Amino acid sequence: MTDSTKTATLTIDGQSFELPMYSGTTGPDVIDIRKLYAQAGVFTYDPGYTSTASCESTITFIDGEKGELLHRGYPIDQLAEKSHYLEVCYLLLYGELPTAAEVEDFENRVTRHTMVHEQMHNFFRGFRRDAHPMATLVGVVGAMSAFYADSADVNDEWQREVASIRMIAKLPTIAAMAYKYSIGQPFVYPRNDLDYASNFLHMCFAVPAEDYNVDPILSRAMDRIFTLHADHEQNASTSTVRLASSSAANPFACIAAGIACLWGPAHGGANQACLEMLKEIGTKDRIPEYIARAKDKNDPFRLMGFGHRVYKNTDPRAKVLKQSADEVLELLGVENNPILEVAKELEQVALNDPYFVEKKLFPNVDFYSGIILEAMGFPTSMFTPIFAVSRTVGWISQWKEQFEDPQQKIGRPRQLYLGETERNYVDVEKRG
Ligand code: CMC
Repeated sequence: MTDSTKTATLTIDGQSFELPMYSGTTGPDVIDIRKLYAQAGVFTYDPGYTSTASCESTITFIDGEKGELLHRGYPIDQLAEKSHYLEVCYLLLYGELPTAAEVEDFENRVTRHTMVHEQMHNFFRGFRRDAHPMATLVGVVGAMSAFYADSADVNDEWQREVASIRMIAKLPTIAAMAYKYSIGQPFVYPRNDLDYASNFLHMCFAVPAEDYNVDPILSRAMDRIFTLHADHEQNASTSTVRLASSSAANPFACIAAGIACLWGPAHGGANQACLEMLKEIGTKDRIPEYIARAKDKNDPFRLMGFGHRVYKNTDPRAKVLKQSADEVLELLGVENNPILEVAKELEQVALNDPYFVEKKLFPNVDFYSGIILEAMGFPTSMFTPIFAVSRTVGWISQWKEQFEDPQQKIGRPRQLYLGETERNYVDVEKRG
């Protein structure tokens, strides 16, 4: 935080209060209101935190107007083109791109932790056979604190590091197990000779009865999906992780909280909701009906996969994934896939419709990731678990950063109370 000579003046009933202002390395200045209540006896009101910076961070920067996403200063399109997921994980966790030796060491450390405790298999078997993989994921990741208690002490730096590596390594295994369990197939153990993305595809699609060779184009597309979802600043699930960890809760519980938040259709659940919407639309001729519904104020329907809280011109992740979607669909020979045809037409209609143009609603990352995952053969129920696997590193990097921040305090927002003022209890026989 850079001290600024600027201050903001707030005047309430003729009395003025000087509030310090700070500048980041980029982005809007912030007004420091930490002492506002003590000095002026008022709270600020900002549901949805649309104008509130909840922390200092050096990890990710988004310029919503420019459609820019930077991790540690590096643009996401460069990382998606030139880097790979585990290198981006290193960058997010430790702040710099690794040397060749550092990335090799990091990959070895992650690879050595990909198996889960064998007793966890029994834990899986307690879930209903048809459980949604996200439900299983929330439960199993929360339960990691019972299986890996030796890395759950947040006050021990070494344990924090081990927990971080364990989660990055084991989340793909747990997500693949959740999928296998939901379709009644045996669990497939991780393979340390495969890269991170190929190993995940192998654990999801291999069966003991026959060989499964991972196509490098699919592996690259999977790696890109992981990379593009790795972190996204103080979004709802990341803020949930930070809030949960502000009480010094164990890291596995905090990540489970993030996964629970991600599940919602306004956040990580949007890719599943988007694909389901495309299937419901079914044919191009029904698009106008759905566009009309999206514009109708009396209809709660929204075009899933469109719009973003922060990006107001373009989602840079969507640009990269659009290209991957074309590659994957070409490889799999599904150019005539009716869902994709609906998706392409919908994209064009919405991009040219004045309602969507004026409100700056354009296809977001979930629009394209859903199409790719569908083409790869994942059921829609696996879309959000895959988002969770990718975002785990972002949650952990932000969790670590918060832990190392000397200004960290327990999160405790205030409220604008509109309920009854104090009143006396009425005995049941006197209530009417
Ligand atoms: N379809 C139709 N109208 C929409 C849509 C949409 N998808 N999104 C926003 N609007 C309208 C909304 O009705 C409002 O209109 P008005 O100003 O007349 O009241 C205006 O646009 C602004 O909407 P908002 O709800 O105030 O915007 P927000 O920033 O709170 O919401 C959003 C952002 C992503 C929750 C929302 O655009 C949405 O629900 N999109 C669909 C779900 C989706 O695709 N989510 C994935 C987000 S990207 C993945 C991630 O980072 O998690």
